[in-house]
Amino acid sequence: MSEVCEITGLTEDNVAKLFYLHKQLTEGSEIPVPDEKSLIGFIKPLENTVSSNRIHDSEQKRKDSLLKHLEKSIASKFEGAKLSPFGSAESGLSLKGGDFDLCLQIPNADEKKTIKRIGGMLRGQGMEKVQTITRAKVPIVKFIDPRSGLNVDISINNSLALYNTKLLSSYAKIDKRVKDLAIIVKHWALHRNVSDSVNGTLSSYAWSILVINHLQEQQVIPNLQSGENRTIIEIDGNEFDISVNEDASLAQPSQQNIAELTMSFFRNYATKDWENEVISIRNGKPISRDEKGWMNENPTALDIYNSDKENPGRMGEHHLAIEDPFETDHDLCRVVRAEGELRIRNELLRAAELFGGGSTWKEICETVDADRLKGMEPVDIFHDLRDKNDDLVRNMLEKTKAEMDAVDRLIDALESERQSTLRMAKAMRGVIEETSDLRKEHKAIITGLKSRNKEIDEIKLKRDKINSDIILPIHMIEDELSKVYNRLTEELDIHRVPSLAKEKEQFSWFMELQAMHGKAREASELHHRFIELVKEQKEEIKKLKIYETKHDDATAKLLQDEPMLKDKNINSKEVGSYDRRVHNIQKALRKRRGEMHKLRREAGRLDAWLRKKSGNQNRGRGRGKGNRRGQKPRDKKEDSGPMTLGDISGLLSGMGNESSSKRSRKVSSKKAGMRKMGNLGAHRGSRSQFKKKE
Ligand code: CTP
Ligand code: MG
Repeated sequence: MSEVCEITGLTEDNVAKLFYLHKQLTEGSEIPVPDEKSLIGFIKPLENTVSSNRIHDSEQKRKDSLLKHLEKSIASKFEGAKLSPFGSAESGLSLKGGDFDLCLQIPNADEKKTIKRIGGMLRGQGMEKVQTITRAKVPIVKFIDPRSGLNVDISINNSLALYNTKLLSSYAKIDKRVKDLAIIVKHWALHRNVSDSVNGTLSSYAWSILVINHLQEQQVIPNLQSGENRTIIEIDGNEFDISVNEDASLAQPSQQNIAELTMSFFRNYATKDWENEVISIRNGKPISRDEKGWMNENPTALDIYNSDKENPGRMGEHHLAIEDPFETDHDLCRVVRAEGELRIRNELLRAAELFGGGSTWKEICETVDADRLKGMEPVDIFHDLRDKNDDLVRNMLEKTKAEMDAVDRLIDALESERQSTLRMAKAMRGVIEETSDLRKEHKAIITGLKSRNKEIDEIKLKRDKINSDIILPIHMIEDELSKVYNRLTEELDIHRVPSLAKEKEQFSWFMELQAMHGKAREASELHHRFIELVKEQKEEIKKLKIYETKHDDATAKLLQDEPMLKDKNINSKEVGSYDRRVHNIQKALRKRRGEMHKLRREAGRLDAWLRKKSGNQNRGRGRGKGNRRGQKPRDKKEDSGPMTLGDISGLLSGMGNESSSKRSRKVSSKKAGMRKMGNLGAHRGSRSQFKKKE
């Protein structure tokens, strides 16, 4: 078992991991102060960090375009909803390629349900890695927009974040050093892996608050939350003082340069009396724990970190206490876990020591756990071209253009097939509609025929049944009835009086004849109805034939206008099959357009590389003046460093797109605007353009 430090309780391995913190806790070492010359030497590299994080116009455009798209496709679906950007993209304190925070404000919403619904909508739009987090204090949906490559967080009713963003952006407007120091600190914190609230270190936002506090302490900026006029708002029954006093100012702001401020930032927090102080930019300077009422609770971070228990539990609260400027009950270090706290303190000490100990800014920011940043770093999109000669790249460009031509032809062919199939379906629908009245009548007659047939059969059955029961035809029944009646009612001949039995027999025969007569009459009526119906049926069948001829005539006339439909079965089933065909062609078109998009990007990339190379050669031969009009000379860093798609977009747009416009004319004149090779940014607009056309 390895040795354990008696003071800190750290094992040898952990002493190595937390070297600077351990040294401070055991030796209370002094932090060296850099001399003036070495401090001045930091200015350039620090400025480079700031300028390399400058947000390119194209990135801003991508954000604007995505916001518009989300407003239209999501926010508009919820009554009274409003989508607003916040966070560093809005305050200006963002690193290049930082995430895009959006807040959806919906009154009286079921937030969890809404987040889930939005998640579904985003998946349907082809957004990637859509993740809904409904258990957090503020429900959120995270995703990546594959078109712009932006990482987006949409939170619901996160109103306070909108106000604190406004506060940060007001600070950023006062003095350029706010933004510069925030970017420097965020860059360092990102590379040293101490800015990840999900994994137990401080949020990027908390680092911004530490920057503001430091600049307030250094008398660079005033306290914007001071002043008499107060604005109080109520959210969920709680009141918040969101006053921002834009007029606050310092009589004599400090003129320290960015190197001095960065150095003092690290020294300040490396040596801060965290035991007794709470950071509060609302107050303009740290406040005491007693005043705040936040105690430095046990167990300590070291207790938890050194514990050999499998589950050592949570450490006490408020160790690196940072008050949120508006939600003053909220300590921004609440997300920090034991190891995170120790690493943050170790890193602050390390940076402060290296600053004074002759290290470079690059060494101070040396990336730890580099894998974690993969995909975040700007990719060198020319990496595979750097060892190829220009002729080879030109060949690749020609090949790509040839492929573009081929795909373009395919797209045109599919487009015209789609048009003709659409026309066919439309024409068929037209014929069906035009003849629909005739078909309706035809159908009505057929329905009539069917029900009449049924009636005829029923009547016939009834009639025949009665007839089979009656032994005499109706006229004979009537004759017989009158005979028997006469016999029963004639004057009696006294000599020929019938016997009683005979008379009874006559009577019952009379009754029987009467019953028979009723039935026979019924059968006769049925028979007449039967004859009538058969006649009607014949008439209707004649009509049916007339309608059929009319329908054929009308169809033939319509077919004269649409000869395509000749020999085709015209019915709604067939129309459905044409609709399906249109749908499949559309799918194929989308796929081909996706290929075209990729090819266009690739051609743009190859073209940009060749231009970049020829630009370099011209400058190398002292012909810097020979740059094309509108082409800005590029600095050394850009020539050798990795380039992002945004940079290329800028490069091409600054060059007038000479070859690309030529190409777009060649590809297709009608879609020239859309197919410009130089148009390399994220074109959400083109997506909706396709939609409209389809
Ligand atoms: N926020 C907050 N409370 C927190 C964390 C964040 O109110 N505890 C809000 C802030 O308005 C912050 C925004 O959420 O600006 C986004 O947080 P985050 O992405 O951490 O900070 P950013 O300032 O956007 O920094 P980055 O450039 O790293 O995205
Ligand atoms: Mg952010």
